[in-house]
Amino acid sequence: MLLEVDHLVKMYVRQGKQFRALDAVSFSLEKGSWLNIVGESGSGKSTLSRLVCGLEKPDQGKIIFEGMDVAGLSLRQWRERYRKVQMIFQNPIASFHPRYPLLKSIRLGMENYRVSLEPGQFEQLMEECHLTPALLERYPHEVSGGECQRAACLRALCLSPELLVCDEVTSALDVSLRLEIGELLRNLVRHHHIACLFVTHDLLLARKLGGNLIVLQQGSIVEKGRTEDVFQSPREPYTKKLIDSIL
Ligand SMILES: Nc1ncnc2c1ncn2[C@@H]1O[C@H](COP(=O)(O)OP(=O)(O)OP(=O)(O)O)[C@@H](O)[C@H]1O
Ligand SMILES: [Mg+2]
Repeated sequence: MLLEVDHLVKMYVRQGKQFRALDAVSFSLEKGSWLNIVGESGSGKSTLSRLVCGLEKPDQGKIIFEGMDVAGLSLRQWRERYRKVQMIFQNPIASFHPRYPLLKSIRLGMENYRVSLEPGQFEQLMEECHLTPALLERYPHEVSGGECQRAACLRALCLSPELLVCDEVTSALDVSLRLEIGELLRNLVRHHHIACLFVTHDLLLARKLGGNLIVLQQGSIVEKGRTEDVFQSPREPYTKKLIDSIL
């Protein structure tokens, strides 16, 4: 198993009171598998993404990555984990350094993790992301949201990750591009056998992309299963409501 999330609890303070943004969330993810995470605004999707990436620590529960409890990792192991778990964000333009051409940011990421690719491998990855050298010479503000998101995919892929955490990566894009970026990611992770945690508001997109699905409601998992099975026969009223709202 690549990732095991065991009874995660994350507390925040709201209006002076503590509340559980995540409440005993458990699931596991096999190498190379695809997991959609859906749920209404405030249900804890981004909190879960940040915890899985190690950007925040849980208050209770465990995250086991490649068989090791991440709470007990050494500094060197944390570094490896940061390389192996890459995050792609909602706003691709803000995720790149504004004063560097895209290529420079991508190269800096690789240098930071001391990653070197085989000859020709970078060009191959660039093609897979439908990017060109000329486009990568541009600055983030000189490319479209879709192009920039493809560059973010390339930046992540160049680090040979084991897991991609994608938090609403299609939400800031034009509707016509959402499926394109979703499918691009789906194909990339399939080809490179990378696991993906795909957080989305877009239930139709989640259904198209397949894999497994988790439904979060107020910090708890209320339903999980094969994506198509959940759509065909949702067990929970909350899931039914979510599905009905898009049909
Ligand atoms: N740093 C924080 N401090 C306090 N409360 C927070 C913090 N981050 C998130 N929250 C609260 O935790 C809950 C879950 O937030 P989260 O961002 O994980 O939801 P989400 O499912 O990603 O929502 P959305 O679909 O709007 O992105 C919300 O009530 C939010 O207001
Ligand atoms: Mg969110």
